[in-house]
Amino acid sequence: MTSEASTRPSTPAAVPRAAVARPSGALAGRVAVPGDKSMSHRALMLGALAEGETRIEGLLEGEDVLATAAAMAALGAEVERLGPGRWRVAGRGVGRLEEPSAPLDFGNAGTGARLCLGLLVQQPIFAVLVGDASLSRRPMGRVTEPLALGGARFLSRRGGRLPLAVMGPERPQPIRYRLPVASAQVKSALLLAGLAAEGETEVVEAEATRDHTENMLRAFGATVTVEDAADGRHVRLAGPARLTGGPVTVPGDISSAAFPLVAALVCPGSAVTVENVGVNPLRTGLLDCLAEMGARLRLENRREQAGEAVADLAVEAGPLRGIVVPPERAPSMIDEYPVLAVAAAFAEGRTELRGLGELRVKESDRLRATARGLAACGVAVEEGDDWLVVRGLGSSGRPAGGARIEADLDHRIAMAFLVLGLGAAAPVEIDDASPIDTSFPGFAELLRGLGADLA
Ligand code: S3P
Repeated sequence: MTSEASTRPSTPAAVPRAAVARPSGALAGRVAVPGDKSMSHRALMLGALAEGETRIEGLLEGEDVLATAAAMAALGAEVERLGPGRWRVAGRGVGRLEEPSAPLDFGNAGTGARLCLGLLVQQPIFAVLVGDASLSRRPMGRVTEPLALGGARFLSRRGGRLPLAVMGPERPQPIRYRLPVASAQVKSALLLAGLAAEGETEVVEAEATRDHTENMLRAFGATVTVEDAADGRHVRLAGPARLTGGPVTVPGDISSAAFPLVAALVCPGSAVTVENVGVNPLRTGLLDCLAEMGARLRLENRREQAGEAVADLAVEAGPLRGIVVPPERAPSMIDEYPVLAVAAAFAEGRTELRGLGELRVKESDRLRATARGLAACGVAVEEGDDWLVVRGLGSSGRPAGGARIEADLDHRIAMAFLVLGLGAAAPVEIDDASPIDTSFPGFAELLRGLGADLA
């Protein structure tokens, strides 16, 4: 590891940092957001499992991904930062990771912790996983229970929470599993585990979730097939597999692009383009919603890059109308609901969001945090078990704002309400914006560059 990555603080939110967004004029300009978080974790992990060298361009250098980089180094891979977003990983081969000598600290990162379990169970090594207060509240049983079917043993806190200890099996067995909840993280952990097992690993998902793991595994030489059947999508991996390192180019993260896009929609007169954004169809539910709301949104310069769709996203401010977002859209926009709810607060009429149960177990209970924050900003909102209804102000005015929001160690809650503050009647303050660095380092600078009043 280079010194920058290895000396980072282990708990990202250790020093709380307040932030305030003030009502802003028109935003204008072209920007690029940091690399996709999902693909960045996967690139480092597959690099560590591959034979040979993996060169990554566009890696997200947020705290979450740096935690994964440090974990891969602790498991014996050579991980080196060559320049901004440019990293080199020399891998160890599937099933050949080293036993780490200290707990692996994943900070705030659910993806890092869950996917890494799929790597740890490939060989008989012992490891302990720890994380910050948010990650230590999140359910890990959804990954450890199916992984135990392959022979791994786990010990954890009550409710399957971190800290968690894992002992990998001598002979990993292939797993067949039907996902009880739509989760790309669980699917990915099982596919990664299957790389070291003799035989076919099969994961069945009722609704398709993001397929970056499948795409990247194929690019590294594994055989992954996908069959859409009446009972859902069957993803199969042939094991054991050998992976070969190669170049990986990570596009900008659509989950980060969501914030400047919605900021432009709610600040009158704005015109903003976010360049080089990954638009894999299993990630673009937010764009479908914004289009249905009447947003002036264009996908320009569409292209394919390393097996993933990429485009520039151009938006102009304009009136929005309320919509009904169907539950089956949830996997394709699971991280975008808080900022969509902010857009809905500015729209004419009612927006109904359904199928949001998974939001309760993200970095925070995002359903509650979104409802509470909107209410504090003067927006009428109703919260159910797994739904939210937002009554937009539309032509009758803008949300009042003038509130202090608790972000609850959740980067996306912090960013969503800062965006609301840019379009509100009075400033919005966030108690602690430091978790934003987990996924979007440079968030405030980027918005300021577009003309936002953010401090
Ligand atoms: C992710 C999958 C999603 C998402 C998370 C990243 C991934 O979680 O919320 O931010 O990289 O696989 P689930 O698959 O658990 O819903």
